[in-house]
Order: sequence, then structure tokens, then C-alpha cells
Amino acid sequence: MSNFSYYGYELFSIPVELHSILATNVFFQCFSLLELSNSWPSANHYDLLCNRISEISDADFKQIFAKPYRVLTLPPINSLKIFLDSLLPELLHCADYDISYVSEYESSKNPKLKKNSYDIPFRIVRNSINDVGPAHFDGMYWDLSKGTISEVSMRSFSSRAKVWIPIIGCDSTNSLSVVSGSHLQEVPIVSSEFINLTSSVKGVSNIEVCSEWFMQQSSRVSVPAFQQCNAILFHDKLVHKAPRNSTSPLRISLEFTVLYS
Ligand SMILES: [Fe+2]
Repeated sequence: MSNFSYYGYELFSIPVELHSILATNVFFQCFSLLELSNSWPSANHYDLLCNRISEISDADFKQIFAKPYRVLTLPPINSLKIFLDSLLPELLHCADYDISYVSEYESSKNPKLKKNSYDIPFRIVRNSINDVGPAHFDGMYWDLSKGTISEVSMRSFSSRAKVWIPIIGCDSTNSLSVVSGSHLQEVPIVSSEFINLTSSVKGVSNIEVCSEWFMQQSSRVSVPAFQQCNAILFHDKLVHKAPRNSTSPLRISLEFTVLYS
């Protein structure tokens, strides 16, 4: 049985040059979004970015870095795809795979995205600010978006998995943690419902893995990827959580969904 099947995740290394290309794309897009293009390129782009983000309000941060704008618009598709082609079919034991496309919602919000743009967003977690969500597994959210413009199309594929790549500002206490083997369990989840008063349609406003259950899993929690050029592929039913960032000015990572059959 592979690590992916047994533990629900697989740690792998990415080439230094590819990591550098990905990081450069992320920083370039951050500079563009913050209208700092005149300062690009810079030898100390991380410090510049940290300083600029520390100056803007929380509301501006959330608006500037809303998900549709965090999707890489100049994605390094060729080098990333060539690398993934050499890795994923074997790790996933699949005949075919691809990176998922952005949703209709994202392409409608960001004119730089097309219908079939790959959905490769970066994520920024500020120091000592609650930029992270609760413990969850991604499969929980797929059903919620079904039939909406946020739905991510499965196209002709049957399964989904996630890739998470630390870019900068990560360490062993400040990186994605996973609950090994949780993809094989029926994990308890809690959700709260709301009713849209205009349409009288019921919806789910909040959904997360039961926090008591999560706290009982400490012996199975691990932080597989925090060193530069390490990354993880994980099952869409694997419980994971990003911690608050208390050790670096900004923690930046890249993530995307892969579809496979
Ligand atoms: Fe997730």
C-alpha cells in the first residue's frame, strides 16, 4: 500500500529551480496587487512585501488578496506540468490527471483569469493574525459548492487530491499539519445552517471538523512539509489544519487541486 493510500499523504521534493520559479511568480503577483511593480525586481522582495502588508489595513488586505486575485495569472505551467507529469501518475496510481480549473466565480471576478485557467492560488498568513481556518478536509467543501458558480468542475475525472507547497516563512511549527490516516475514517463534522430570508433556501454557513475530535488526535498529527523544496500531496478526505503564524513575518504557500482517474 502506498503512503498516499495508507497515511493519506505523500511527501515529495520539488527541484530547486522549479521552487524558485514558483516563488518568483508569487512575489511578482503580490507586488502587482500591491502596486509595487516599480520596485520589482528587488533583492529583498520578502522584506519589502512584509513591510507593505504590515502597513495596510485588515480590510484592504482581505480585499486585495481575495481568492480570485491570489490565483497565479502567469502560472509557470510548462515547468510545473512537466515535473508533475513525472511524479503524480505514480503517486496516485492513476492513468490520467490534471490541475483543476478556476470556478466560474473566480473567472468572473478576476478578468485576468479565463474559464480554463489553472487554479493555482498562493496563500499569505500574517504574523499573529487569524488568517487561518478551522481543521477540515477539502472534500467537506466540494458538496457545499455543488450547483453554484463556485463549483469546481470534475471534468472527466473521478477523484481529487491536493498539493501544498511551502514557499517562504515556514518552519516545523508554522506549516500545514495533517492527521495521518484520517482519510480512512468517518470524521465527525459540525455545521451551522442558515436560511436565506429572501429565497427561504437553507444553506450551510459554517462547517468544520469537530474540535474535540481534532484535539484528541495529537498523537497522529504531523507536519510533513516545512523545508524549502518539500511539498505534500494529500487525499481530499485527509484532515488538515494550518496553524496561526507566530514565527515569521509572513507565511506563504501555494496549493492546488489535482483531478485524476
Ligand atoms: Fe484545505
